[in-house]
Amino acid sequence: MLDRMLRVDHAGEYGANRIYAGQMAVLGRSQTGPLIQHMWDQEKKHLAKFSEILAENRVRPTILLPIWNVAGFLLGASSALLLGKEGAMACTVAVEESIAEHYNSQIRALLEQEDPDRYTKLLQIIKEIRDEELEHHDTGLEHDAESVTGYWLLKNAIQLGCKAAIYASERV
Ligand SMILES: [Fe+2]
Ligand SMILES: [Fe+2]
Repeated sequence: MLDRMLRVDHAGEYGANRIYAGQMAVLGRSQTGPLIQHMWDQEKKHLAKFSEILAENRVRPTILLPIWNVAGFLLGASSALLLGKEGAMACTVAVEESIAEHYNSQIRALLEQEDPDRYTKLLQIIKEIRDEELEHHDTGLEHDAESVTGYWLLKNAIQLGCKAAIYASERV
């Protein structure tokens, strides 16, 4: 159970980094650049944390990283390119909401274990990261994510993709 959890969390943070890299490639020099950079910097720390925990527990990362590398970057860059800053923010809202929900369900699962005390440190880390994902989500909303044309459809399509990515990354 723990291996699967750590593997999917690492994959998610890896994908998030690639999404923000794609957004920065398009919007890096715009007014929104510093805002996106700030979120990306936090994602770098999330990824470093999970890389460290993976190594400590001798868990291998998912074999799908090369796919998340390309898919994440393309998602970040294309939403920014086609739909501008609002498109990028809508993408952020969709992804961060999915990740925060995912972390919440992990927190519940860990608390339901017979010996949750064993996971005190991990729970603390996941909660801290979850809170930052929620900040990213709120940042997206505050910067006009909902004003993009087709917001609902875009958000749901991206979240469907996130669910599929989570499902796959837990398994291989
Ligand atoms: Fe993150
Ligand atoms: Fe995030």
